[in-house]
Amino acid sequence: MSPLPGGSPIQTYLDALHRRLAPLREGLVAAYIPELAHADPAWFGIAIATVDGHLYSVGDTAQCATIQSISKPFVYGMALAEQGVERVLAKVGVEPTGEAFNSISLEPDTGRPLNPMINAGAIAVSAMIAGTDAADGERRIMAMFERYTGRTMAVDERVYASEARTGHRNRALAHLMRNFDIITGDPEPGLDLYFRQCSVLVDCRDLAIMGATLANDGVNPLTGARALAAPDVARVLAVMTSCGMYDFSGGWIYRVGMPAKSGVAGGIIAVLPGQMGIAVFSPPLDSRGNSVRGIRVCEEISADFALHLF
Ligand code: DON
Repeated sequence: MSPLPGGSPIQTYLDALHRRLAPLREGLVAAYIPELAHADPAWFGIAIATVDGHLYSVGDTAQCATIQSISKPFVYGMALAEQGVERVLAKVGVEPTGEAFNSISLEPDTGRPLNPMINAGAIAVSAMIAGTDAADGERRIMAMFERYTGRTMAVDERVYASEARTGHRNRALAHLMRNFDIITGDPEPGLDLYFRQCSVLVDCRDLAIMGATLANDGVNPLTGARALAAPDVARVLAVMTSCGMYDFSGGWIYRVGMPAKSGVAGGIIAVLPGQMGIAVFSPPLDSRGNSVRGIRVCEEISADFALHLF
């Protein structure tokens, strides 16, 4: 699968869209993880991977950056596959919060985080994956990502160290969930695994192929490898639909109409089931932590090709 040559209608459309949105100067690069502040606000890539194996790309689609919260639906799918739906639901709910990605959105009596897309829920999921052997959990997570991307993945050690050193709020969330026995045992290995999964390096094409794998019922259209069973794909897409864009999830599904997930390094993936994965990479974020150009690109593609699911 290689990028289609310029001249195809979709490629021509993407080239024009990229040209038009590149001058946009809204949003700020995330700086609360110090290492992320080095990102270039001009980086801008768009990639679309289809379930029949075509890849369209424009701009900085080979620029690697950390996956951040886009890891969450994939690790959630892995937890469903490894532990089963009921065990996972016992630890993490599936209700949208209407609150920020780092909110303390835990059920008051049980301490169960409301959903797996906010940091609290994702940390609880990573603690389940870490189990009693976090190093093995990391190996399984990397192997899982490799099934989605079809290539060898690596962790950005500088971003990981930067977040591990400064992530006091996430550490507090992990310890709060330890208090409620949502996390059992030492909360640090699960927290550390969460920081490491967020620091996995991806480029925009990887993200599009990961999205296309979800669109293709869990089978990577490039390699033919199954990354996730179809019933778990449906569960992952459901939480992306209701919770993937945090406190913009309602506005997003209203306007764009596709399950999606954003990350603070500037990535967004959107999934059109049965058809394609769309990925945008552009570091400047709005106040909710979502890529400004990423939202604009997905709104325009959805409208121009009538992709809204509803
Ligand atoms: O835990 C954090 O704050 C980051 N590692 C991930 C947050 C994130 O990507 C939110 N998304 N827009």
